[in-house]
Amino acid sequence: MFNFSYCYFFFFFLSLFSLLFSRPCFPARTIPGPATVITAEDHSHNAAWHNFSRLLHAERGSQINGISELKNYFHQFGYLPRADTMSSDFTDTFDAQFESALLLYQKKLGLPVTGKLDSHTISTIMTPRCGVSDGSSHTIHSAHHFAFFNGKPRWARASPMTLTYAFSPYHIIGRLSKAEIRTVFERSFSRWASVIPVKFRETSRYKSADIRIGFYHRNHGDGKPFDGVLGVLAHAFCPENGRFHLDAAETWSVDFERDKSKVAVDLESVVTHEIGHILGLAHTSVKGAVMYPSLKPRTKKVELKIDDVEGVQALYGSNPNFSFSTLLHSESSSNLAMESQGVLSKWTVSLALGLIITFLSA
Ligand SMILES: *[C@@H]1O[C@H](CO)[C@@H](O)[C@H](O)[C@H]1NC(C)=O
Ligand SMILES: *[C@@H]1O[C@H](CO)[C@@H](O)[C@H](O)[C@H]1NC(C)=O
Repeated sequence: MFNFSYCYFFFFFLSLFSLLFSRPCFPARTIPGPATVITAEDHSHNAAWHNFSRLLHAERGSQINGISELKNYFHQFGYLPRADTMSSDFTDTFDAQFESALLLYQKKLGLPVTGKLDSHTISTIMTPRCGVSDGSSHTIHSAHHFAFFNGKPRWARASPMTLTYAFSPYHIIGRLSKAEIRTVFERSFSRWASVIPVKFRETSRYKSADIRIGFYHRNHGDGKPFDGVLGVLAHAFCPENGRFHLDAAETWSVDFERDKSKVAVDLESVVTHEIGHILGLAHTSVKGAVMYPSLKPRTKKVELKIDDVEGVQALYGSNPNFSFSTLLHSESSSNLAMESQGVLSKWTVSLALGLIITFLSA
């Protein structure tokens, strides 16, 4: 951990707040509180998570330096309860309890459920992700993959419901203009507003706004410090708390053409995901959905998928103007686009092979 840079003053107050308000969102045995962690392709930027690659192929009974770190990770994201006494640290043994945590993790993240630290699992673990605990959700049943926070909290306002949002005047970043940031939030909110009967309106009155947005470095007083470049990207609290925090250390981007950095993170993708938490959605196991916990750098994922829409409509009902047919159409057309891309690259490969063979036989 690095030095705690600011918010000393509010630390106690906010910790108390976070205990009071975030705990109901999470099961008793997991850490209360939100966080969005995102890991990078370029793992050198997140030293601790990068270290997990050494655990590849470890299985039950293994004793390897670093298992304890991975146990901390599983604990942080709600898969592994702390051992009986507060003081006892996790051991480096791949024990039965760790195996069950691993099985849960694989199931939740939509991975092959092997109980082993295979390459799929290790690379998913190292991918940047949302800091909100996955253990904060109801068990997933049957056909649905979306999830809610424990107690299924939602904003309870008389309809028509309008939630206000405001940007902290102090916790800001310099790499994007205020106008660019506002545009991103406007678009992200309107995506959710188009599927549920809830409207969002920006206000300049930060303190009294329902949703309060800020960019923070490291420890910022809610017991969920950010971790610098990549790792955790952002976190947001479940209803009706409204705190929406982004890691100020990220290379936030609205245009990958302009930002060439390998660790650039798409602001809109993260904002759209965090709004889901603000509204009461927990993480889903559907990889393509906005509410999936991880997001690679230089990747954009902003369109709500059927799973996201069904989840949020289970909390708020449908916007009368919304129709699933447009969504189904856009999902199938994007699948189609991906398929034709696949076909295209296969064609290119076989064409190239054909050329090589022709050359060789000539
Ligand atoms: C990697 O893991 C080893 C063994 O657990 C530890 O001693 C070392 O400090 C870790 N390195 C980083 C960069 O976290
Ligand atoms: C539905 O669309 C109408 C016309 O554009 C608009 O006035 C109304 O506010 C919309 N309803 C919701 C819940 O967004």
